Amino acid sequence: MTQETAQLIVDGKTYTLPVVESTTGERAIDIRSLRQQSGYITLDSGYMNTGSCQSTITYLDGDQGILRYRGYDIADLAANCVFIEVAYLLLTGELPTAKELDRFKYDMTRYALIHEDMIHFFDHFPPNSSPMSILSTMVGTLHDFYPEMDQEEDPYGGITTTTARLLSKVRTIAAFSYKKNIGHPLVYPRPDLSYCANFLNMMFDRPNMPYRVEPIAVIALNKLLILHADHEQNCSTSTVRLVGSAGVGLYPCISAGVNALWGPSHGGANVAVMRMLETIRRDGRDYDKYIAKAKDPNDPYRLTGFGHRVYKTYDPRAKLIKEICTAVLDTLQVDDPLLEIAQELEYRVSQDDYFVSRNLYPNVDFYSGIIYRALGIPTNMFTVMFALGRLPGWIAHWQEMNSDKDSSRIGRPRQVYRGLVNRPFVRLEDR
Ligand code: ACO
Repeated sequence: MTQETAQLIVDGKTYTLPVVESTTGERAIDIRSLRQQSGYITLDSGYMNTGSCQSTITYLDGDQGILRYRGYDIADLAANCVFIEVAYLLLTGELPTAKELDRFKYDMTRYALIHEDMIHFFDHFPPNSSPMSILSTMVGTLHDFYPEMDQEEDPYGGITTTTARLLSKVRTIAAFSYKKNIGHPLVYPRPDLSYCANFLNMMFDRPNMPYRVEPIAVIALNKLLILHADHEQNCSTSTVRLVGSAGVGLYPCISAGVNALWGPSHGGANVAVMRMLETIRRDGRDYDKYIAKAKDPNDPYRLTGFGHRVYKTYDPRAKLIKEICTAVLDTLQVDDPLLEIAQELEYRVSQDDYFVSRNLYPNVDFYSGIIYRALGIPTNMFTVMFALGRLPGWIAHWQEMNSDKDSSRIGRPRQVYRGLVNRPFVRLEDR
């Protein structure tokens, strides 16, 4: 809280509201007492301008293109860490020591298996079930298979049995959901492989066709997961917090986060990017046609993968993902026409005043799909990959929300009612 206050004048009356300052200097008007003082509420559809909590996890400056987890720049973390190191950072606030990291790796191995009875669930999903629906269902059922969370002394204390278990098992569930989707036998986790190598092996190893884990694939996957690991408040993370504010345990909250992420406006956007690039390819690379459609105010069409609600400059994650994309395709010698199309589209957009004047740059989803494709990950698994990456962020927010008395208050937005008022009731026989 600063000494500063804001004055709101409505109907000639002045209401004084406190101003809160963040550690990086942004200011927020604290309106919590506004209704009590004045009877007014605020209207902010889509939460374009509403802070729903105070958080110490992730800092984002959309104008300058800054993203930091617990104070560390995303580029430093992506260059120097493996994913589970960053997961540890998000959950505890500190990077692990070598000993702590070893212990955490051991936990990832120890909890990697899922209860055999859960395997039967996989058998009863219809063929071609969406891996996202399988993931959300299976994460929800962890609550019943691993109820020990309720007995944990400090369930909100960073690395707990439950958080380690969840991080490890979601990876297994994600890979199993793919195997189920394509009708192949499940591949169990191997204790000798790292977090990401294990995931790739569970995805691609087949009877009589052993999978060789390429080091570049492991490097790329670690970086992609790190770059997706948290993004402060957004549809899925705020969903996790909101559901959790009702007192619900971690597993159902994460299941809710998975469902929120599923949408094409959120985690499903990189799938839409691949479809768009494919359409442009099939249409003889007629870039002008699609750019013109995107610019036409009477056409709802947009170039997917461009623009972001908060970044009004190049998304710092997109910059790094573009570099990884080139490295993966070069090393694995993958010749993907969609990369060429993406690069040409980006170039043309960067030369077009419509996009430049609106600060529309590639976002995190623009190049990530091309990397996943090069790694052999099919399009219907892209959002699952996003969920795997975002998991530590969701858990960290759930823990933070529960540890803070103020933000753990049950979420209960208000509304401005615009419906009919007080209609006389008409009995069934008279309608
Ligand atoms: N293509 C063409 N025009 C666009 C695009 C785009 N991708 N994005 C925004 N615009 C235009 C809008 O038409 C609008 O133009 P106007 O001022 O002439 O009306 C202007 O830019 C501002 O657009 P808004 O929708 O107000 O911007 P907002 O910040 O609300 O939207 C959003 C951000 C939803 C991401 C938008 O840029 C978009 O739809 N992008 C394509 C979808 C996409 O890539 N989504 C993934 C986001 S990343 C993530 O969620 C992980």
